[in-house]
Amino acid sequence: MKKICIIHSGPRKKNTYATVEKIKQSLLRQGEVSFTEFFLPHDAPCFCTGCFACILKGRELCPHRTQIAPIEQAMLEADGLIFSTPVYVMDMSGQMKAFLDHFGHCFTIHRPFPELFQKSALVVTTAAGAGNREAAQSIRRVLSYWGISKLFEFGIAMRAASWGDIPPERSRKLQKKLDTTAVRFFRSLDRPPHPGIRFRLMFRVMRAINQRNPDGHIDKEYWRAQGWLNGGCPWKS
Ligand SMILES: Cc1cc2nc3c(=O)[nH]c(=O)nc-3n(C[C@H](O)[C@H](O)[C@H](O)COP(=O)(O)O)c2cc1C
Repeated sequence: MKKICIIHSGPRKKNTYATVEKIKQSLLRQGEVSFTEFFLPHDAPCFCTGCFACILKGRELCPHRTQIAPIEQAMLEADGLIFSTPVYVMDMSGQMKAFLDHFGHCFTIHRPFPELFQKSALVVTTAAGAGNREAAQSIRRVLSYWGISKLFEFGIAMRAASWGDIPPERSRKLQKKLDTTAVRFFRSLDRPPHPGIRFRLMFRVMRAINQRNPDGHIDKEYWRAQGWLNGGCPWKS
């Protein structure tokens, strides 16, 4: 049984939600899958206050820990993650951005979760016309700094009020593309991570930075405990 954790950007059960539903159906055709779903902003109705507590002292000290912790736990327990957002002014929704801001502490330079390196993530976006690429890129960039290398995206320029209003021929083509993405995402769940050369180089630079940090520095001690200061790599664990 594969576990998928889904973060929906909003409560509106329209285009983006319908697209994620189709992806869920497609995944269920691949094998046994269970879904844990969260809806923003309801499940994390908070903006990062920029207090730096998570980065400098520990994520447990985030003032919004009560809301964020259950979502974080579900993400860590999942095999795959789905992040869905409508395109708002050529980017992800504000709700999704506010949620992701709570995970600055797990950027690779700080204290990335070793578990996240193993996961696949799929970014789902819908737009009236333009901005899917930009919104997906914004989210993918954050996820790549979390250490996720098996990244997929599926974006639709609706050019219609809803899925039902899309002409049948185009709808069929979109469904085919959606199924292909879902199959690739599903198959990736069993594959090992494959960070690119850019990430591997960046990881070396971050290792050097943490080696130079003073003993006792929260990031340095975390990296030391993980075995990453002396050549270990999270994608090989
Ligand atoms: C505030 C706002 C900003 C939007 N910005 C864009 C945009 O930049 N580009 C675009 O093509 N569509 C834009 N749209 C349209 C939505 O992305 C599109 O209708 C999407 O499918 C809505 O998804 P939903 O039904 O899940 O809410 C915007 C919609 C809203 C409400």
